Amino acid sequence: MKGIILAGGNGSRLHPVTKVTSKQLLPIYNKPMIYYPLETLLKAGIKEILIIVAPEHAGDFVKLLGSGKEFGARFFYEVQDKPDGLAQAFLIGESFIEEENVAMILGDNLFEDDFNEEVKHFSGGARIFVKEVPDAERFGVAELGPNNKVLSLEEKPVQPKSDLAVTGFYLYDSTVVRKAKALRPSVRGELEITDLHNLYLQEGQLGAEIVRGAWFDTGTFEAMFAATQFIRDKNL
Ligand code: G1P
Repeated sequence: MKGIILAGGNGSRLHPVTKVTSKQLLPIYNKPMIYYPLETLLKAGIKEILIIVAPEHAGDFVKLLGSGKEFGARFFYEVQDKPDGLAQAFLIGESFIEEENVAMILGDNLFEDDFNEEVKHFSGGARIFVKEVPDAERFGVAELGPNNKVLSLEEKPVQPKSDLAVTGFYLYDSTVVRKAKALRPSVRGELEITDLHNLYLQEGQLGAEIVRGAWFDTGTFEAMFAATQFIRDKNL
């Protein structure tokens, strides 16, 4: 299994802090934000990792993370010129993915869970990881039936059908590149990850699992603060 960390975007919700640096380089307690998703991939046994960054601060990511040797891994870098959607990662990463399965994690997502078993036993299709939240309308939302069967998926619905947010960690088989190529930009002009998942869902190839431990999408000051406190208290 290969890995992708998507750390693009312009962090506009965190201005003025992100005027001079990337969101994913800001600290969560005592480490840069991107260390947490990186450690999630490494702990899952993923050793070949493509890091997709915005052009403005690309050099800072290379300076921080380097070749990967220090982490016992190999890092590759690509630039996402414009934040045109999460699913664009699979177009940018096409030559990296080749015919392999791939895990993607968002550069601002912090998980307490370990995904080692899920990665080891992944056998095809796609898998999403969902978490109960009080404000599901801010996220992709999954409606699940018995045995966690995915019934529907919606991106930031005004009236969520459940309180299950789709977190920023995903597993895909190698058909992800072909599926991403079939996507068209949404009304907000982005290649939506939810549209990609709906293609897997139509094929009956989308699985879901509940995230047991804590999860943070650290894209707001409030969430950064909560995550910082969590890491400090847990001594992670
Ligand atoms: C993105 C996805 C959304 C997902 C979230 C998880 O939203 O579009 O489906 O629930 O990440 O962090 P964003 O945070 O980019 O608005």
